[in-house]
Amino acid sequence: MSSKFIVFNWKSNPQTLTKALKLAELADHKNVVVCPPFVYLSKVKEKLLNADLGAQDVFWKEGGSYTGQISPLMLKNIGVKYVIVGHSEKRRLGDTNEFINKKINNSLKTKLKIILCIGEQLRRGNNKKRQLEKAKNFVKNQLLASLRNVSLTKKDEEKLIIAYEPVWAISANKDAKPDNPQDSSQIISFIKKVIFSAFGLKLKVLYGGSVTSGNIWNFLKYNEIDGALVGSASLKENEVKKIIKLLSKK
Ligand code: PGA
Repeated sequence: MSSKFIVFNWKSNPQTLTKALKLAELADHKNVVVCPPFVYLSKVKEKLLNADLGAQDVFWKEGGSYTGQISPLMLKNIGVKYVIVGHSEKRRLGDTNEFINKKINNSLKTKLKIILCIGEQLRRGNNKKRQLEKAKNFVKNQLLASLRNVSLTKKDEEKLIIAYEPVWAISANKDAKPDNPQDSSQIISFIKKVIFSAFGLKLKVLYGGSVTSGNIWNFLKYNEIDGALVGSASLKENEVKKIIKLLSKK
């Protein structure tokens, strides 16, 4: 069985609990994290015997007068293991590196594990080498700003996972297409180097952006790519079945 790591991010879907439970049942596999909307977390948890439960966001305060916010401790107390932080769809709605940094620091204190998303907006120009250099520079800055003052030691390697998601590759965006797996693997090994030189840690780094059962292994076959963050395909029963099957076979 493959040791690659898969995160299913349902975003603001599905619209019924029945459908959510069905998707959870299909996704229930070792090395998988299922991230439903907050309202389904407790019910989905009951379905997961092998997969872990993740939330799609978290607030940074442990409760108080913050209408609409969900604290790290609330999530921890209902059995959530992971939280996605810094997704580009949240950044677009106002999450800054500073907010993201607070979310990470406080979630780590509460012993939630973090899936931190980073990724550049666009790769412009015709010179591929330059495009990749710019993308690397961008993700390096985003990464270091998000992790400012985060104290992590060798024993924390399991607590933080990075998801490299070039924003233009995320299926919800206009003209989205998956990245060239070789380019992603290059950027991912760069991210690993940055983390190692800043923190001395070897972290898992995933690829995200228009991943399907048809292309997932083009990414996962690279040693540097430790797994995938899957959005829209995680809502299609057939796709989930196929991805899980691939995980068990490889
Ligand atoms: P996608 O989403 O797989 O639909 O491109 C990935 C993501 O936004 O995390």
